[in-house]
Amino acid sequence: MSRGSRGEHHLLPLNTLTAQYFQQLDPAHLSLPNASTIIHPDVQTVIYDHMFNEATVWPLPPVSYRARVLKTIISRIEEAITDPEEDELNSDLIETWTDLISRPKPSQIQQVQQLTYIKYTAPAATTTTSPVPHTVITNESRGLIYSSGTTGFRTWEASLHLGTYLSTPTGAAHLAGKRVIELGAGTGFVSMYAAKYLQPQFVLATDREGPLIGNMKRCKERNGLGAEFGVGAWEWGTPLVYPTKDDTEGAQEDLAFDVALGADLTYDTDLLPLLFATLHDLFDNYHVKEFILSATLRNQKTFQAFLDACENNLFKAECLPFESSQPEDQTGFFHETGIPIRTYRVTR
Ligand SMILES: C[S@@+](CC[C@H](N)C(=O)[O-])C[C@H]1O[C@@H](n2cnc3c(N)ncnc32)[C@H](O)[C@@H]1O
Repeated sequence: MSRGSRGEHHLLPLNTLTAQYFQQLDPAHLSLPNASTIIHPDVQTVIYDHMFNEATVWPLPPVSYRARVLKTIISRIEEAITDPEEDELNSDLIETWTDLISRPKPSQIQQVQQLTYIKYTAPAATTTTSPVPHTVITNESRGLIYSSGTTGFRTWEASLHLGTYLSTPTGAAHLAGKRVIELGAGTGFVSMYAAKYLQPQFVLATDREGPLIGNMKRCKERNGLGAEFGVGAWEWGTPLVYPTKDDTEGAQEDLAFDVALGADLTYDTDLLPLLFATLHDLFDNYHVKEFILSATLRNQKTFQAFLDACENNLFKAECLPFESSQPEDQTGFFHETGIPIRTYRVTR
């Protein structure tokens, strides 16, 4: 049997690889196919078609990232060649590599500040019934976090953890048919995932930072979202203002929600009074019944301050029994688990 005529089962490891690549994981952490798989011509064709073909793939990672990944893949293929008569390195991959390394290189500063579209793929278990993976596109830059003074230009581990929880049947049940608001949404990853796949009535993503609001509005279109997803500027402790249909800002009197979401909002004890003023507002005036929050426990004292504030404000905080898989076992919404991340349900 020739190498090109095998069944499709050896293409399966490529689903994880492509999902990791479009999330732009460190090339050293990509799950590359083993030698006996990557040497097959059809595997190499799929790698080119699904990851590097500029004519058909969007969004593509930045040139420098693509070049680093392709270098790793080509090395793996070269190592796998045992019979130079029969084994081949796909010519499209070689041409792409030559082209990528010949392009002008942006400076280090340009590279870290560049906003890039990132495609996140939901864990495989959620999409076994659908042949099309569930994906969310955001626009982010780790470098901009430092120069703009806001932490919202990247999707944090806690958001990916919350997205993973919401991708489970138990997590999704919080949102099905519900009116949802997200606080401090940053890139809008959680809100857009919820609006796109979890059948809420609608989701309103909020943040206080104007550039993040513009960013989320642009991503709304990129994700093909319509009236089920809105974006509004909201600084905690101030009145909620919601964009009306013509996209101008104006108060909407009958605005109400069932669930509030938040990821990585408890990193600074100075923000807690404002956050709690907003939670009171949401429960008192906007009908919210539960606040689902994920928190990276970088500092136990800081998180304890949040739990204490819940008690002092007469909110009940219940830790949900959900843990993400270890990174090597994750199939989507990839994130580190070295620092514990917990999900809480806050009610009154
Ligand atoms: C650490 S980031 C988390 C972003 C996103 N939830 C995630 O996990 O990727 C904190 C977010 O909260 C927003 N934020 C901080 N203080 C805020 C406030 N007082 N009112 C509204 N948003 C605020 C920031 O702009 C930022 O987007």
